[in-house]
Amino acid sequence: MPFLSASLERIQPSATIAVSMKARELKAQGRDIISLSAGEPDFDTPQNIKDAAKRALDEGKTKYTDVDGIPELKDAIIAKFKRDNNLDYERAQISVGTGGKQVLFNALLATLNPGDEVIIPAPCWVSYADIVLLGGGKPVFVETTMDNGFRLSPEALEAAITPKTKWFLFNSPSNPTGAAYSAQDVKALTDVLLAHENVWILTDDIYEHLLYDGSTFATIAQVEPRLYERTLTMNGLSKAYCMTGWRMGYAGGPQKLIGAMRKLQSQSTSNPCSISQWAAVEALNGPQDFIKENNKTYVERRDLVVALLDKAEGLSCPKPEGAFYVYPSCKGTIGKNTAKGTLIKTDEDFVTALLEEEGVAAVHGAAFHGSPAFRVSYATSTQALKEACARIQKFCAGLK
Ligand SMILES: Cc1ncc(COP(=O)(O)O)c(C=O)c1O
Repeated sequence: MPFLSASLERIQPSATIAVSMKARELKAQGRDIISLSAGEPDFDTPQNIKDAAKRALDEGKTKYTDVDGIPELKDAIIAKFKRDNNLDYERAQISVGTGGKQVLFNALLATLNPGDEVIIPAPCWVSYADIVLLGGGKPVFVETTMDNGFRLSPEALEAAITPKTKWFLFNSPSNPTGAAYSAQDVKALTDVLLAHENVWILTDDIYEHLLYDGSTFATIAQVEPRLYERTLTMNGLSKAYCMTGWRMGYAGGPQKLIGAMRKLQSQSTSNPCSISQWAAVEALNGPQDFIKENNKTYVERRDLVVALLDKAEGLSCPKPEGAFYVYPSCKGTIGKNTAKGTLIKTDEDFVTALLEEEGVAAVHGAAFHGSPAFRVSYATSTQALKEACARIQKFCAGLK
């Protein structure tokens, strides 16, 4: 009898976490490492949010709470959905979890049956496919390319839908490409989805506020209200509010689905951290202007990184609309040897040699189901980014 479950055997450890760990390990050994692998802001959590957490502690808000969120946080989320997305939800339609990851996990695990298909535009976030596989479902990747701005076309979506399609999993702005869809782009996809009544939509809006150059955000149920009844709108505090460690994610959706997610959560983690929940109330209800300020810095860094990487031999780096990632192609480096004699056959070989030879950690495209490319997170200091890009240029120039 095998010790490990068959469902665990179906999944891989998170590649982004693995690369970040490896970078930390090398740093601890005294190596000069610059890590561009983590998907988290280098900015600290704003003071008013920290103060709210301290108040919660002092006031003894340290007990179990309702499984899927305190009413005060649900109300703050309801107000946020109305303010930013013109979506109306009631408390029974809101689920709060330990990070957006748990919310996605709950939704998929609560609904997937063996063989159910989940359409995922690729390149995509590392965890989507593994959560689907853990739930017994089948990820169906639909490739997007640099030429079409890494945006899914309505024709490709239509072609991927089968009678077994349970979910369409959508993410804009995207991790790892930074690509964002305009309201018009979203409408083209919702027109397809409207005709397929059995397909549910899970939209991961976690990078909603990290959009640049005057682009505006549009979410599925807002663009097409007729899809409201079968859309789960997921979001979280990790990225825009610089709260990755607080583990706060949430979703709004149909009451029946939210109830099923609550049932699953009640038998796993129960409520998310009470103190983080009170901090999240302040984050959503308090001042929002720091997001715009942070975005100014992100835009400067994005432009810097795109310009430097696009100049590197064998790389081609498009300029994304949002999030804090760039996703350069490394096609021009495949088949070459590094200065130390390592043959680069894949994007994984490229990032491994880059880490070993130049001390720069990035994540290979294969982890996001989009090769040959790699993901660079520019949520790190401008000085570190300049140095890292110079090292990448040097590494590429040394390939033969
Ligand atoms: C696209 C996407 N969705 C969801 C998450 C989950 O974030 P968290 O669990 O920190 O809310 C991440 C984090 O990297 C992400 O990039």
